[in-house]
Amino acid sequence: MTGLKARVVEVVRETADAHSLVLEPADGDDRDRFRYKPGQFLTVRVPAPDGWAARCYSLCSSPVTDDRLKVTVKRVEGGLGSNWICDNVTAGDVLEVLRPSGTFTPPSLDADLLLLAGGSGITPVMSILKSCLAGGSGSVVLVYANRDERSVIFADELRALAAEHGERLTVVHWLESVQGLPTEPGIRALARAHTHREAFVCGPGPFMDLTASALTGLGMNVHIERFFSLAADPFETPEGPDPEEAADGDAGEPGEIEVELDGETRTLPWPRSELLLDTLLRAGVDAPFSCREGSCAACACVVLEGEAVMDANTVLDERDLADGLILACQARPAGDRLKITYDG
Ligand code: FES
Repeated sequence: MTGLKARVVEVVRETADAHSLVLEPADGDDRDRFRYKPGQFLTVRVPAPDGWAARCYSLCSSPVTDDRLKVTVKRVEGGLGSNWICDNVTAGDVLEVLRPSGTFTPPSLDADLLLLAGGSGITPVMSILKSCLAGGSGSVVLVYANRDERSVIFADELRALAAEHGERLTVVHWLESVQGLPTEPGIRALARAHTHREAFVCGPGPFMDLTASALTGLGMNVHIERFFSLAADPFETPEGPDPEEAADGDAGEPGEIEVELDGETRTLPWPRSELLLDTLLRAGVDAPFSCREGSCAACACVVLEGEAVMDANTVLDERDLADGLILACQARPAGDRLKITYDG
């Protein structure tokens, strides 16, 4: 088992259908493994009719201002994880989670940001917002779309932040009950004055599609956070390479992987037939991951030397690849030696 244990310290009812879980490491020795960057998410193991499933929830707490981690979960009609959490989880429960991960995080807390959130998409945006205001020097414009006033998550907290950081924070609410559904021209008009900013977008699929399209051509750097249901259970410990495959000569001599993580460097043999993430986890390297399907970028690392090939990649774009990013859960050796870092 590769998970960590998180104790639920408190359950907060944010709105009629959104609950926040305040979490802390159940084992104090795991404190470092719970460290995270603004905008990252937690993968939570939830019971499923045929065993277990995993669901990803963004952290809305800030590593700069909050001692504990907090995720906010909004009910999704028929949703396995969200309904189980909202109906069953209470203070004192212990959840199994993976290390916080994800790449929806600002390059610098000092950057000027345009944050666009729809509904529960506010969760990672809130983490970024609070972190930048408390730990950085940039200014932030938040455009937050909701059905109506009652569905605005964190309304009081946003009001307090706007009062405290009036010079650096502008909050624009877009309420469907008042302005109608967000439109592409409307979002584009709001964004036009802020094209020098780094943009972060999170919300329901149609909101993100519309917003991405509205920002196209404005010359902005746009980060989009998309979640999806995981097909397999990523908490299971990977099995070793198929011994027959290893024995038939196809696999050849193992390559070598040198990995930097949390300030430590390790060198390991890397069987030719094995995925990089599996090799690292089996060797006890605490590498981050979530979906294991090439879709979330939680396992992304930077190649410093050598080459790898990926079986699948639906999440890294041309620029990420040009920057040397690879997905450890999809990478196989394409040479004798690879050096990677998670610390960059
Ligand atoms: S763990 Fe999700 S892309 Fe690798």
